[in-house]
Amino acid sequence: MQNRAIDALAFQVRRLTDKMAAEVIGLDLRIPFDTLTRDAVYQAFLDNQILVFRDQDLTKEEQVAFTEQFGTLERHTLGNRGASDSPFVHIVTNLDADGRPTGVLKSTLWHSDKSFRPAPSMATILHARVLPPDGGDTVFANMYAAYEALDAAEQAELDQVRVVHSWELSRENIGRTLSQAELDDAPPSTHPLAREHPDTGRRALFLGMNASHFEGGSIEEDRARILALEDHATQERFLYRHNWRQGDLLMWDNRCLLHRADPNFEVAHHPRVMHRTCLRGTPTS
Ligand code: OGA
Ligand code: MN
Repeated sequence: MQNRAIDALAFQVRRLTDKMAAEVIGLDLRIPFDTLTRDAVYQAFLDNQILVFRDQDLTKEEQVAFTEQFGTLERHTLGNRGASDSPFVHIVTNLDADGRPTGVLKSTLWHSDKSFRPAPSMATILHARVLPPDGGDTVFANMYAAYEALDAAEQAELDQVRVVHSWELSRENIGRTLSQAELDDAPPSTHPLAREHPDTGRRALFLGMNASHFEGGSIEEDRARILALEDHATQERFLYRHNWRQGDLLMWDNRCLLHRADPNFEVAHHPRVMHRTCLRGTPTS
């Protein structure tokens, strides 16, 4: 069914690794999709978890229009708003207001975007605008595979556990204290540790830097277990490393992946600028 639809369409899907990620070839994302194309792209997204569109050049408005074809845009955290003339486009950058590299690359810890929201982000779309000469990769870990690699007894145990996800905690862990306004804007949420993907029905581990402790437990008791699970889930055999090319636009599924930015370039020297839009997900149950 899917192949027939794709054959009839003007694009191809080429798998990049046996673990996840595929290139979508033949689409100019400035042009709105017809329904058949939209549905086939979404199916490819579910099948591959990460879609890589090459040689794109979207304005912020065009990126917003592309994103909205798949759902509702998600607002960004307070600190990330306002830096852009387009409130739904978050500028991911290592430059200061004067355009000089700060030496700081953000999002280098494993996470799933906005997991502290009651309806965590379904997908993130990241479009490379300025890249360093080499490196500045984004690394992804497949949480379906990480869950499926656990033995049945541990799966059964983890199926019963819920986790508190806290933006406050993850900011504290990188040395930042949130203001009261920021705290009010992003209170913690609780999600199943083994989350059922709403579209595929497959279970995936749901953790990362915002995962604080088990519901009913405490950070002191549970954090070590959460970090051990993260170590399990981010083993090399579950990873895909995206080495960005100029013009790349990635769309990834936050419901079954963790990701992080790799500071494997001279962060204090070379600019790296991406445009980011997020799609709202559904509440977990
Ligand atoms: C993000 C993110 C990673 C990167 O934008 O949500 O985690 O490589 N980015 O910049
Ligand atoms: Mn992220």
